Amino acid sequence: MSNSRLSVEEAAIRIESLREQIRHHDELYYRHAAPEITDREYDALVDELRELEKRFPQFSSEASPTETVGSDRAEGFETVVHPVPMLSISNTYTPGEVREFDERIRRLLGRGEKEAIPYVVELKIDGVAVTIMYQDGRLEYAATRGDGVRGDLITANIRTIHKIPARLPEGAGLAPRGRFEVRGEVFMRHGEFQKLNQQRIELGLEPFANPRNTTAGTLKLLDARLVAERPLDIFLYAVGAHDAPLPARHWEVLELLDRLGLPTNPERRRCENLDEVLAAIESWETARKELDYDTDGLVIKVDELALREELGARSKSPRWMIAYKFSAEQAQTRLHGIELQVGRTGAVTPVAHLEPVFVAGSTISRATLHNADEIERKDIRVGDTVIIEKGGDVIPKVVRVIESLRTGQEAPFVYPTECPVCGGGLHRPEGEAVHRCINASCPAQVKGRILHYASRNAMDIDGLGDKIVDQLVDGGHVEDIAGLYELTREQLAGLERMAEKSADNLLRGIDESRRRPLANLIYALGIRFVGSAGARLLVRRYASIDALIAAGEEELTAIDGVGEVVARSVREFFAEEKNRRLIERLRMHGVNLERLPEEAPPSAEALAGSPFAGKTCVLTGKLETMSREEGEERIAALGGKAAGSVSKKTDLVIAGPGAGSKLEKARQLGIEIIDEAEFIRRLEAAAGG
Ligand code: IVH
Repeated sequence: MSNSRLSVEEAAIRIESLREQIRHHDELYYRHAAPEITDREYDALVDELRELEKRFPQFSSEASPTETVGSDRAEGFETVVHPVPMLSISNTYTPGEVREFDERIRRLLGRGEKEAIPYVVELKIDGVAVTIMYQDGRLEYAATRGDGVRGDLITANIRTIHKIPARLPEGAGLAPRGRFEVRGEVFMRHGEFQKLNQQRIELGLEPFANPRNTTAGTLKLLDARLVAERPLDIFLYAVGAHDAPLPARHWEVLELLDRLGLPTNPERRRCENLDEVLAAIESWETARKELDYDTDGLVIKVDELALREELGARSKSPRWMIAYKFSAEQAQTRLHGIELQVGRTGAVTPVAHLEPVFVAGSTISRATLHNADEIERKDIRVGDTVIIEKGGDVIPKVVRVIESLRTGQEAPFVYPTECPVCGGGLHRPEGEAVHRCINASCPAQVKGRILHYASRNAMDIDGLGDKIVDQLVDGGHVEDIAGLYELTREQLAGLERMAEKSADNLLRGIDESRRRPLANLIYALGIRFVGSAGARLLVRRYASIDALIAAGEEELTAIDGVGEVVARSVREFFAEEKNRRLIERLRMHGVNLERLPEEAPPSAEALAGSPFAGKTCVLTGKLETMSREEGEERIAALGGKAAGSVSKKTDLVIAGPGAGSKLEKARQLGIEIIDEAEFIRRLEAAAGG
């Protein structure tokens, strides 16, 4: 895209649009680990934004992603811990599974075959979940779902939606005192979305891809004035925390919301039994196409709140509710070619290049083919007409080939025996489905290793993206990670699209990486099977890279949390002469190879103030914001001990949704029980104090 002739006004719009897109992709990448675009495409957005901000300094902003890249880029919002976690819903795909859901519920409630359970069937809106808290009838805050436990505060943005009352009326059947939290989905109607895109096209801007992403991006804008210009809409469908009593049924709760002036979706059905639910499903399968907003299914909810109470929740989702997903949207298109991508470990992934086709709200031109077996099993040939499928937010995939449309010109894909990047041999290790390029100096691998080294959880080198690394490696400036520290200003300034200031910034970023914690370095080395958490475990035991290099496999395996696979991989890595030479070069360049004070196991002093010190804790149920391993690690870091089962020796139980027998036992033994929100509060208090 050429920006060279933008007017000031157009530049302002383009800058805002880029910022918003980048934030959106940051969110997908960092929070959901589900990127929708390649690193290359991402870098192009950031580069373009940098360039525009340089040319139009009047629009520079501290909140711009160019200023925050490398720190937590999805930040910019205060957060709030939800008083009631925002769970998700488990999915079903066939009427049969819905029948099983009903059977399960009746079994759990001890109901006989004739005793029907009444349900409410609602549309599942494909938007962005939000929660709005009213305190004494006044809108206090609004937040995103976030990770379910803690969300971003987006109050000003939600206030721009005119349908949301700032105050709740009195006399609508709800005591105006105390908390009243309502939850729902923000979305954009098709007509409004098209109008918005029309305006953008007239301004010479890229149209947005689909209403859902636009809604998500809009809610993340830091300037509510821009949000106010976007046609956001909302349906509320649930109550979270509430001090006043609720009516007995969900249906009546929705009616209460209506009386309070809180927008609900009129498209809802009250079903007296399963058969009526199944009839509703059937009629929506076609009727949904008439709606002027996106839905990805139906939500079937037990109507009686008392029954919900009795049913409770599973790990991530309530037992009294289920989503019925409409069948994934498919489309027919042509497969033009198959490209092999080589990752940093040499693993080769085949990717299908498709004739662009519009499916489920966005244009698809690439799809993953996983591996050679998959191509063979589905007999996918270049030139074939294929059915592709995009379900929810997953990467599109090729479902099958339409053989009847073959012309005879299609070419079976011959899996190359040579790496498409370096020409070296491809090898398929026994028992593995993937082919690997075995040439460790293959440029694709070198680039991958450098990008990994520079990534956020590793050495966090700001400004070292795809494009730069491509040029550095292809231009012969860098051969490995240690080579980064040998780069000169002249070399960098000579690269394409590299302004002097960016060259200096990059040099500064590289320099700063010398002082990263040891765990970051160990992770950055890209030792197979050693992730960030594994690296931290190793550092707790070894105070320097030299101590780690000297460690034997048995000693490594003895570390709590380090298994044989990791231990062997670490040994193999350091057994290689060239890896040890690499470490020596890093040392020569002043890269930190020692454990930093903050990485050390906690001292007695530090432990004195820790609420976990000397305590035996048990984590049970599902945690929303971290894995159980991470929770255990954090307890250990604060001097506590994480145990697997509850006994008289247990001091504290942290229970998430779905906690079962351990929680029960803790109750019986009178052990202190806290939820995840409280756990996080204590962790943060301990870390901060
Ligand atoms: S009830 C326990 N009702 O779907 C969650 N959710 O896939 C309470 N959603 O996170 C949600 N339409 O954002 C409910 N009519 C509806 C919905 C709905 C869309 C979303 C919601 C949830 C997601 C789960």
